Amino acid sequence: MSNWKTAWSSGKGVTRARALFAETFGHDAHGVWASPGRVNLIGDHIDYNAGPCLPIALPHRTYVALSPRSDEVTRIITDMDGGQRWEGTLADISPGGVEGWVAYCAGPAWALRRTGIRLSGFDAAVVSCVPVGAGLSSSAAVECAMALALTEVFDHPVGESDKTRAHLAECCVAAENEIAGAPTGGLDQAASLRSRDGHALLLDTSDGSVRHIALPLTEHQLCVLVIDTRASHSLGDGQYGARRSSCEQAATILGLRTLREAADATTTREELDALLSCLPDDLLQRRVRHVVTEIWRVSEFTAALKAGDMNRVGRVMTGSHASLRDDFEVSVAELDTAVESALQAGALGARMTGGGFGGSIVALVDDAKIDTVAAKAIKQARARGLPRPRIHLVTAGASGRRLA
Ligand code: GLA
Repeated sequence: MSNWKTAWSSGKGVTRARALFAETFGHDAHGVWASPGRVNLIGDHIDYNAGPCLPIALPHRTYVALSPRSDEVTRIITDMDGGQRWEGTLADISPGGVEGWVAYCAGPAWALRRTGIRLSGFDAAVVSCVPVGAGLSSSAAVECAMALALTEVFDHPVGESDKTRAHLAECCVAAENEIAGAPTGGLDQAASLRSRDGHALLLDTSDGSVRHIALPLTEHQLCVLVIDTRASHSLGDGQYGARRSSCEQAATILGLRTLREAADATTTREELDALLSCLPDDLLQRRVRHVVTEIWRVSEFTAALKAGDMNRVGRVMTGSHASLRDDFEVSVAELDTAVESALQAGALGARMTGGGFGGSIVALVDDAKIDTVAAKAIKQARARGLPRPRIHLVTAGASGRRLA
């Protein structure tokens, strides 16, 4: 069995989406739009603390073939989750009105209508090669592809304007929070809609601004590996929300609006320790220590990247994993095993990525060592009785757009 999983080409995604649409609805779709999943390089559990994060858009995308209708009927079919179909009206798409996969597909229609955009019903076929449950933002990819399609067919195309894309990303976050009921921040949707080919996206969630940071991987003969541990991950089971509440509680106790202010007010470990001593218990202290040091690490990572110091980039990634594991407590045995095996096989750095509690790790690896790292991850997982990981060699891709 090959150790490598590859993303679909654009042509393959478009063909599959068009074919599913035509065989389901009996005519050709008006167009096809696609938007990517993401992997976060550094800065996890920071987006809801008004701090910075640094994702890349993946070559793995969700493709939506869509046509508007002249009535209110809405029909959606997907090949995801074993194949599903839903039919209702626009009015059915409301908080509590739809659930499961439909909430992610249909939620953007509700969010766009709320901003005053007039929609009618529509037919849509959704196909995806973003692995589901792998912590690679399959849900944001669906939302963003749908939002791109709907805005264009209903006369509000976003084009390349970052301002308009930022607004669309906010609509998708609202859809995820209020229709799908997942209390996530804005990292995933920004990565899907605002990224640039060959660059990481430095998103400052305090003001929504972005900078595109060149990834000098080829110059350094390095690549980014994503190891999907297949430990199933869900953000709706309360643990993610509990972390978010702890951060809000700690900020309130410290008299701050957000924990970003704690990071801005401290530059040394001593200052951080003094701040932590104002918190009533060890748990809140560890949660805040993760957030503040992770914000520091995003700066250090970005500076090391610009300086071409890739060993330091790797060390910062590995430090981030320890903080997510020990202080924020969002890692699991599968993720720790994958990080450990990647490092043992010579990766410059490795860390869990995204929300955690399962999902994937990301590793920075010399080109010459990728096969060794992949083989070691699989061997180590087998030795510990864990699922066989799926391994993706990824590049920093472009944001979502119309493809046909
Ligand atoms: C999930 C959420 C994001 C972000 C990450 C952790 O992916 O959807 O908003 O909070 O977890 O960084």
